[in-house]
Amino acid sequence: MKHEWSNRLTFILAAVGSAVGLGNIWKFPYITGEYGGGVFIFAYLICICLIGIPIMLTEIALGRRGKQSPVNTILQLSQMSGAHPAWSIVGWSGMAAGCLILSYYSVIAGEVMAYSFRASSGAFVHQSVDGIKGILTNLTSDPEKLLAWHTIFMGLTILSVSRGVKGGIEKTVSFLMPALFVLLILLVIYAMGSGGFTQALDFMFTPDVDKFFYARNDYGEYLMDASGEKVFTWKPMMVAMGHAFFTLSLGMGAIMMYGSYLNRHVSIGQMTLTIVLLDTAVALLAGLAIFPLVFANGLNPAAGPGLIFETLPLAFGSMSAGTFIGTLFFVLLFFAALSSAISLIEPTVAWLIETKGIRRIKATVWTGLSVWFIGLATIFSITGTTVGDIVENIFGDVELKSDILNYNLFQIIDFITASIMLPVGGLLIAVFAGWVMDRDSTEREFSFRSPYLYQVWYVMVRYVSPLLVALVFLNIIGIVNF
Ligand code: PHE
Repeated sequence: MKHEWSNRLTFILAAVGSAVGLGNIWKFPYITGEYGGGVFIFAYLICICLIGIPIMLTEIALGRRGKQSPVNTILQLSQMSGAHPAWSIVGWSGMAAGCLILSYYSVIAGEVMAYSFRASSGAFVHQSVDGIKGILTNLTSDPEKLLAWHTIFMGLTILSVSRGVKGGIEKTVSFLMPALFVLLILLVIYAMGSGGFTQALDFMFTPDVDKFFYARNDYGEYLMDASGEKVFTWKPMMVAMGHAFFTLSLGMGAIMMYGSYLNRHVSIGQMTLTIVLLDTAVALLAGLAIFPLVFANGLNPAAGPGLIFETLPLAFGSMSAGTFIGTLFFVLLFFAALSSAISLIEPTVAWLIETKGIRRIKATVWTGLSVWFIGLATIFSITGTTVGDIVENIFGDVELKSDILNYNLFQIIDFITASIMLPVGGLLIAVFAGWVMDRDSTEREFSFRSPYLYQVWYVMVRYVSPLLVALVFLNIIGIVNF
């Protein structure tokens, strides 16, 4: 029998569990730092409203209508609308994106687990900035440690998913999400007293258009073209849009999958707004907890993926009860990552069960092992030996270099999945719902109380969201040279 969520609260918790994760607390602050703060946040919020909300409504509705994994849902819906079965490509690319994202997500989540133990052993107490940086280098320069944590995290993901939606997912998220929220608020209160709060507010909310639209090098200096002009780039816009998809778990079928377990009588509009508001609140709170500490300690906001592993431990090291609060924070972040990881492979696992008729446990183990293997690419591209000032990665040769891109393999996987595959997936989902499916069936599925709301959704998925995504892509062509 097809599973359904126990009640609407468990759906919300699972969807929020999927949405709130490393994207909000690890990724959002560091990309905001890299792309100059204010305008980036502004662009991201616009994408959430104009693209994220309409596409989340759509994914939940399509999932609930098809009641299967994304590939089979789209296959069925295209059959019902007389459309070509090739539309199921959306589901396929979604499964690929989910596995690729999880491959690096698990490595970072492994670092989070390692930090829970560091925090609990008091490793951060009274550390200097250099001491804290040393703790991070110690971890990231050792492939064996990263591999061990990555393996443990994937093992736990496999365990949770193999126990099924009810046993695993619902239980994990029901008390963890509220706890994470409370802890973040406590951290923001601490950060307010750190001396860097006004600078952080300024950084996060004062738009500096130049920093967003003109390319800069690793040292934050503007690049100049031959005629001495700054070089215009759409890449931050693309990253902001990609992040809107990433943080809301859209464009790859996770939310569609969860929608398929949703009961007919629940209001999709209310669910969507709740999920989006909570997710955005967590990201902004994370920024308000982290940037004041960055400025108060003279750190660089553009430090990259290591940002939360430097700033927060500094704070935990100098606050009273920091050992306790720090441990709690990283443990909760680990759970937030786990509930997102579960949703990253659930579409593939469900598809294997439906199509190949294999047991859930077998489907989960195979998918998990493949993802574990792909994760090695990230491990080898972030670990390395320090030669003088330069860290030479084990996969050092696999780097794409240009004036604008200077990426290792992990960053390439991240960029291709988050900034390209998710938005393209979302674009196709919107076009499918707005142009291919007939109005009657979508209207019935939403059953909005007011016809006006349906009209707004219709215009958004038919025109606004696809055009915005397409616009960003058209602009990027010719600017990013792989
Ligand atoms: N939304 C999750 C986060 O912000 C990541 C994720 C992306 C989960 C895509 C599922 C699908 O951490």
